[in-house]
Amino acid sequence: MTQDELKRQVAEAALEYVVEDAVVGVGSGSTVFMFIDLLSSIKNKIEGAVAASEASAERLKKHGIRVFDLNSVSELPVYVDGADEITAHLHMVKGGGGALTREKIVAAVAKTFVCICDASKLVPVLGKFPLPLEVIPMARGHVGREILRRKAQPVLREGFKTDNGNLILDCHGLTILDPPALEAELNNVAGVVSNGLFARRGADVLLLGTPEGVKAYKKKN
Ligand code: A5P
Repeated sequence: MTQDELKRQVAEAALEYVVEDAVVGVGSGSTVFMFIDLLSSIKNKIEGAVAASEASAERLKKHGIRVFDLNSVSELPVYVDGADEITAHLHMVKGGGGALTREKIVAAVAKTFVCICDASKLVPVLGKFPLPLEVIPMARGHVGREILRRKAQPVLREGFKTDNGNLILDCHGLTILDPPALEAELNNVAGVVSNGLFARRGADVLLLGTPEGVKAYKKKN
């Protein structure tokens, strides 16, 4: 099976989690794009969607799915998004597409976070995928030095601006043994808008695409 076939499999499986007559939260990335394309087949059964990126909003609109501003929505039963890395504890590294801050906000509102990804994303320890930080432009040097102090290498994502007008520093060389602790620590560095660790609010369900079919993992309480 190709990686795209694995992604499609989980995108399809996520449709089962969509709640009828409600607004669904939609993340970003190539797996989510497949989910959006499939969501169009049940668009008459949902009220609409909230999107975590401009690109996802555009794709939803192209399919004729109503896009709501998050501020006009009081309840979001389900949020569907991908990940760059995920552990069996359902802690994630996200932000490969640079949409981490909006993804984190929509995830915070949602009751259930359904993560969809292919089997290559499941890892024992987070950090091989460079951890993205969204940074206010004037804080680039300061944040970079803070990352070097933590024995990691910050690399500016060249020619990239987030939907919020900020920069992304990709942090290489981290071995993340305590994801919730590092998430909180990085949030406290002045100039960091948010970081790509989704551990304090991780996923509730992981739908993992494998050659043997979709494997579902649930958060242990
Ligand atoms: C976007 O900012 C990310 O958080 C995505 O969720 C992540 O990069 C996964 O993308 P793919 O589905 O393209 O692998």
